[in-house]
Amino acid sequence: MIIGEAPGADEDKQGKPFVGRAGKLLNEMLFAAGYQRADVYIANILKCRPPANRDPSAEEMGCCLPYLQLQIELVQPGLILAVGRIAAQGLLQTTAPLGRLRGTVHDYGEQQIPLIVTYHPAYLLRSPLEKRKVWEDLQLAQTVYKQQLAG
Ligand code: URA
Repeated sequence: MIIGEAPGADEDKQGKPFVGRAGKLLNEMLFAAGYQRADVYIANILKCRPPANRDPSAEEMGCCLPYLQLQIELVQPGLILAVGRIAAQGLLQTTAPLGRLRGTVHDYGEQQIPLIVTYHPAYLLRSPLEKRKVWEDLQLAQTVYKQQLAG
């Protein structure tokens, strides 16, 4: 399961997560890791677009998190990939910077679902040199996911 921040303008129009430019890059990232979009469930922390694309407020996140928690309970993912700072901090209830949350396997919720943090594809569109780090995060995610399936 992949969890992002909030719908952008394209997502708001279509009612689907990650269908704009960032979504296309996310598809490419998945493809490079050997997955198709249909293999993953994609959701956002926020269910509608904040005005002028600003960061979601703590109150808005608090309103939407129970819905996301229900989605997670229904999907029962073997692994959660949190893309971007807002998703990572919101899910892990921390203010730690994204750079410190990457590279380790976190546990999410009572079911202790393994959660891995990586950069948001919209950030990669602006900073393509960081793609290497995302590739490392995806490799870690794959290793952990395979362990989950085996175990
Ligand atoms: N950015 C996100 O975090 N989610 C989307 O669905 C689209 C862009």
